[in-house]
Order: sequence, then C-alpha cells, then structure tokens
Amino acid sequence: MAAKPERPFPDGGGKTGLILGIETSCDETAAAVVARGQQMLSNVVASQIATHAPYGGVVPELASREHLRNIVPVTRAALAEAGVTLAQLDAIAVTEGPGLAGALLVGISYAKSLAFALGKPLVAVNHLEGHIHAVLLEEAELARQHSDRIANPEAQDAQPALALIVSGGHTHLYLARRTDGCWRYRTVGRTVDDAAGEAFDKVAKLLGLGYPGGPWIDALAAHGDPRSVPFRFAEVRPRPARQKPGGLSLPDEGAGSDTLFSFSGIKTAVLRYVESHDLAAAAEVRRRALAANPGAKTADALALCDAETLGLIASFQHAVVENLRQRTFEAAERYGARRVLVSGGVAANRELRVRLTAEAAERNLPIAFPSLALATDNAAMIAAAAWPKLQAGELASPLLSAEPSLRLGR
Ligand code: KG4
Ligand code: ZN
Repeated sequence: MAAKPERPFPDGGGKTGLILGIETSCDETAAAVVARGQQMLSNVVASQIATHAPYGGVVPELASREHLRNIVPVTRAALAEAGVTLAQLDAIAVTEGPGLAGALLVGISYAKSLAFALGKPLVAVNHLEGHIHAVLLEEAELARQHSDRIANPEAQDAQPALALIVSGGHTHLYLARRTDGCWRYRTVGRTVDDAAGEAFDKVAKLLGLGYPGGPWIDALAAHGDPRSVPFRFAEVRPRPARQKPGGLSLPDEGAGSDTLFSFSGIKTAVLRYVESHDLAAAAEVRRRALAANPGAKTADALALCDAETLGLIASFQHAVVENLRQRTFEAAERYGARRVLVSGGVAANRELRVRLTAEAAERNLPIAFPSLALATDNAAMIAAAAWPKLQAGELASPLLSAEPSLRLGR
C-alpha cells in the first residue's frame, strides 16, 4: 500500500532530500546518506570477507550474525560522516531482495524500526536496481559538478539504456529507461546457471586462491598469456516451454530473443584442465600458503604460480570477458540501446572495463561503469535508487519482508 510522502523535497541545493540507505543482502553491512539521489554524503561498508574467507564462500548464518553486530555502528558512522542527524533524514531506504533471507531480515527489521520510531517514510529497493543506480548516481554527481557534461539528463534517461549487472549472484541484462519520473526495467538477458562472479570465485577456489576470487584472478591474469588455453562458450538455447496440466504451455522466463549466459561450463573446463595437467597438488600448496598469510598481496600469490597456471587464469578471464562483451553489444544492437551501464562486483574487473570501453568507443555508444567503491555491494546505490520512488510516493508497505528471489522488472 503506497502512501504519499508528507513533505515536499525542495531541489535547492544543500542538505535536502536526504535518504539513509541500508544494505545487508549478502556479506557487506552497509549504510550511506545520499541527497536527492545525486550527492553521496557518506558511504560506509563493513566487509565480512575475513569471516567467510576460511570457508571459501559466504556462510548465511554467520552473515546474519555479523550484520546484527555491525548494523548500528555502520549506520552511526554513515550519519556522522555525512554530518546528518536522524531527525534531518527525509526517508530510510532498505534492500528488500534478492539475497540471503536471514541477512536481508537484519537490514529490513532495523530500517523498519528506525522509520517507525522516527515517523519517516520507508522505501524498499531491489538490490539489482541498486547496482544500476550506482552508475546513475556517479553520473549525476559528475553532471552536477560539470553542468556542461550532460546537456539534458532527463532526455538521456528517457532513452533506453542497456544495463549489464555482473555480480557474485547475478548476470543479467536489463533495458532501463525513466518514464513519468520512475525507472522501468525489462529483463533481456540472464544466466541459465552460474553468475559470472560465481565462476570467478569457483575457479579461484579451484586454483587455491583466496576468497572472493574475482580480485585475485583480475590481478594475476595480467601476468599470464590469455591465448594459452582456448576456452570456448557454447551457444545457450532456451529450455523448451513447459506444459501446464490442461494443455497451456508456459514459456520459460524471458522471451525467445533473450540473451542467455552460461558460466558453469567454463568452470568445469578449468577443473578438467587442472586435473589433466596435474595442477591440483600445486593448487593445494598455494591454498595453504595463502590461508596462512591473511595479508597476502598479489606478489605473494604470483610467487606461488607457475607460467602454466598464470596462462590458465589469464585464458579463463579472457574467455569470460569476451563472452560478456559479445553478448552485451549484440543485445545493445538488438534493442536499440542508446548507452550501456555496467555494474555489480565483476564491473571492477580491469580487463572487462578496458575491452567493453574499447568496443563501445568503436560503436560510438556511451558506456559507464561505477567507481571501484560503488561496483561491489554498498548502500549509496540503495539510497540513490530510492529517491525517484520517494518522489513518486512509492513507499514500502508496513508488511515489508525479505524477498530472497525478488526479480527486477518484467
Ligand atoms: O556485487 P557484489 O559485491 O555482490 C553480489 O551482489 O554478488 O559482487 C561480488 C562478486 C564476487 O563474485 C567477486 O569475486 C566479484 O564480484 N569481483 C570481481 C572483481 N571484484 C569483485 N570479479 C572480477 N574482477 C574483479 N576485480
Ligand atoms: Zn550485489
């Protein structure tokens, strides 16, 4: 049930339209204050990497407990850094899903209590929409600082943008555009199995590298020959329509022309290569050495990798980036996108940024990535995504709960 916000939000500069964002969907406890969806006043993230690293992945129960420990200090720090009091806030925004149920519930319970006690509006935000708004927030910040950069941001937002979200849990393509003040999304691509970040994490684990694996692979790939292992991606076909009892056929999610990604095959191909080239023992030695050195840097990992392993890492990254590049630009062309927005943790990858930027330049298509700080999970993106919703009076229902499988758009 949406209610109109009680107060108008003057756009006259200064600290107006203040939203406190809260994000606890996975393994980062984050809080941030953003003004009018375009000025980041603070962005505090407490990472749980050290808690989960010994397990090689996020342990949901531990994540919830860590969020519970961190949520108050992180929120206090975000308010203090922004120089804003709770009373000055215009609204509270929180991630509704997708994510880990127990982790989401911590942020939602806390945000609901704050909004209730303060008598402020509460806005629920889809985590994936948040990732897209990480890019839009920084674009808006640039436009604000250099008012000549984007002549007419409203006209630009009304044009279809293709958003590629590549994270640990998601690989999606959306067509995004702003109509009547609100952002609307249509899914035009998705992975049928693993997410791109998941493939980075699993391959890193297989090779005895630390968690999360993406940054390790990113750093080590630069030292290997990307042509040493010729990985290939097979064409992914949509599964046939399911037959509903009574004869009506249900198409699988997405339309026939949707882009389908698949990253589980390349993970298996890396595993086969490791087995057939006897690299498993060296990977175990590497794993033990890195586990014993929590402060390990790229140089430490590099000293533990031979040329064959570095070639494998570089070839894996090259193949994944190539696949993302091809499919993204095919979709941009198919749907007549006027610009490309890349976000999610894997958007931090240097080779991905370089290759997608080069291709976009060739096609004369604007492309934008978030800064490294806003590529991975954060709450500034949640507060930014909440601003148009608050203006449109799209407030959270008092019955708001965690939606672990929440989808974005249609
Ligand atoms: O967006 P995010 O922080 O959390 C999710 O919503 O999943 O993304 C985390 C993912 C992890 O899989 C991590 O390995 C990957 O992003 N990642 C990277 C890089 N930095 C983080 N992948 C490739 N290259 C990077 N530099
Ligand atoms: Zn994320």
